[in-house]
Amino acid sequence: MVGSSAGLHEDAGRLSGEVLDLHRALTSLQEELEAVDWYQQRAQGASNSQLKDVLMHNMAEEMEHACMLLEWIRRHSPVFAQQMEHYLFTQGAITGKELPPP
Ligand SMILES: [Fe+2]
Ligand SMILES: [Fe+2]
Repeated sequence: MVGSSAGLHEDAGRLSGEVLDLHRALTSLQEELEAVDWYQQRAQGASNSQLKDVLMHNMAEEMEHACMLLEWIRRHSPVFAQQMEHYLFTQGAITGKELPPP
């Protein structure tokens, strides 16, 4: 399987364009989050301060990419949008805010 088809659990012919695009976005988000984790670990492990700075710069850019994808997902998935609106940028106990299932 190539690129965006990797990780599909159903035949692509049975999936709508919307579901395939959401799959592309979610897969890309996973990759960006992995990159954040990798850069952060490498920066912490690096002994050279300039390399550490470059790796931390790269980590911040991966966070930017992840947030761009989250915003695309929010605009294309009403359930994600509802959950984000409810949980993000709030204060206090996160679990205390649990919504009933949609
Ligand atoms: Fe950069
Ligand atoms: Fe990235």
